[in-house]
Amino acid sequence: MKNNIFNKNIKSILCLTGAGVDAESNIKTFRGSDGTWEGHDIYNVAHPDGWKRDKDLVNSFYNERRSHLLSPSVKPNKAHYALAELDKYFEFNIVTQNISDLHKRAGSKTVIQMHGNLLSVFCENNREHIFEWKKNLSTNDFCPKCGGLLRVNVVWFSEQVLHMDKIDELIKTSDMFVSCGTSSLVAPANTIVEIFKQMNKPTVEINLERTVSSDLFDYGLYGKPATVSVVEFKNLLLDK
Ligand code: APR
Repeated sequence: MKNNIFNKNIKSILCLTGAGVDAESNIKTFRGSDGTWEGHDIYNVAHPDGWKRDKDLVNSFYNERRSHLLSPSVKPNKAHYALAELDKYFEFNIVTQNISDLHKRAGSKTVIQMHGNLLSVFCENNREHIFEWKKNLSTNDFCPKCGGLLRVNVVWFSEQVLHMDKIDELIKTSDMFVSCGTSSLVAPANTIVEIFKQMNKPTVEINLERTVSSDLFDYGLYGKPATVSVVEFKNLLLDK
């Protein structure tokens, strides 16, 4: 049944995405059985202390993920394409926790990667020295500008997420918030819904299952994979 929050006054939408949107593109989610973290200690592979202890282990963890992302078995799915299509009708801004490039490959105009980007590296001596990177990374790879050691451009536990100023601005100016394919367990992404609630602006959650934040949302689409439910959401918005 259509809810009256899908009304004609919605002009700008802030869309948060998580691993559930990439799941049907053959990229594992993080939590749950067979998730990326299953079998890995996050303090070894996704924490600055792990990097200090064993850089080769960290590089090989991300090298494996990078080469998988670039393999022919990974392509954008119907959820990525449905979100990209919404650019034609709305000021549609995606803030993603995903480190893949699948939203971009599907053609979305604005994609803000708050947890970084698997296909780039940065220099340990200067955070502004960022380079596109599609091959394996090793401890013999140094910054072409200043000679510092290069590391993957991914935000690890205990580190600051990226682009928060831009995200704050979008939170203030967007008419609607939609959260897709995230367990809502990781801050600060999981706090965005509360800010929209305080502003009295409509919020929608799309996920395979209900999450710890589901009660906060005005409307939810649950029980179906993103390739189905994100298309349903698009049709609700476009009144089809
Ligand atoms: N369609 C829709 N939702 C799905 C699908 C699917 N096909 N498959 C799984 N999901 C849902 C799961 O039910 C789960 O609630 O996607 C969610 C994925 O949750 P997480 O694995 O926790 O991923 P995410 O929320 O993106 O994690 C946030 O945590 O470890 C960090 O930096 C990592 O960016 C990541 C962050």
